[in-house]
Amino acid sequence: MLDLCCGAGAYLFPLEKAGYKVTGLDIQRRMISTARRFAKETRSKAELIQGDATDPAFPDEDFDAIVFLGAPFGHFSIDEFGKIASQAFRILKHKGVMLAEVNDHVGLFLSGMYQRILYEPSGNRDAVSIHTRYDPEAGTFNRLFLDLQTNKRFKGSFYIWTPFILHHLMREAGFVLETTEPGSFGFFSRLASYRKP
Ligand SMILES: C[S@@+](CC[C@H](N)C(=O)[O-])C[C@H]1O[C@@H](n2cnc3c(N)ncnc32)[C@H](O)[C@@H]1O
Repeated sequence: MLDLCCGAGAYLFPLEKAGYKVTGLDIQRRMISTARRFAKETRSKAELIQGDATDPAFPDEDFDAIVFLGAPFGHFSIDEFGKIASQAFRILKHKGVMLAEVNDHVGLFLSGMYQRILYEPSGNRDAVSIHTRYDPEAGTFNRLFLDLQTNKRFKGSFYIWTPFILHHLMREAGFVLETTEPGSFGFFSRLASYRKP
C-alpha cells in the first residue's frame, strides 16, 4: 500500500500495524526524516521515500492500494491533483483502490463556519487563525496562524476543495467512485474510495 503525502506517518504506521506492507512518499525531507527516525525506533519495515506526488518514480501497476489521508488537498491546485490522480491510476494494479480524504470548504462556508478570525483550542497548542485573503482566480484563501503558547506565526495559502471536484478529477483519470462517508474532520471532510476498473 502506498501512503501518498504521508507526512511523518500519522496514518502510515497504524496501517502497517494493521498488517499492510506500506510505502510512504512525501515531498518534505523533514517529514521523511521524522518518519524514518520513528521507523527505526519502532522496527518498522516501512519504505519511506522523499518525492513529488505529481510525478512519483514508481513503475506501472506497482500497488494494490493508495491512501491520500489527513486532507492534504489544501496543498494542491485542481491541475496538480489532476496529475496525482492520473499517476495514481498508472501505479495502481488492476482492481486497485484509492482512498482519499478531501476537505469540504464549500460545506464549511455554507454552514456559516468561515469566520474571519478563529480561536482554535487544541490539547496544548491553542492558536488563533485569521483568514486574510480569498483569491477567486487561483481558488485559494490565505490563513495566518498565531500560536498562543510560543507567539510563533505561520502563514499559509490553501486551495479550496469540495468532494464533487475530486470525484470529477478521479473519473477523468479513469477511476470509479465506490463509497463516500464523513472523514476524520466531521462534516469538514469526506472520505471517498475509488477503484481502478
Ligand atoms: C496535511 S499534511 C498530511 C500528512 C499526512 N497524510 C497526515 O495525515 O499526517 C500534507 C502533506 O503533504 C505533503 N505534500 C505537499 N505537497 C506534496 C507533493 N507535491 N508531493 C508529496 N507530498 C506533498 C506535505 O509535505 C505534507 O506532509
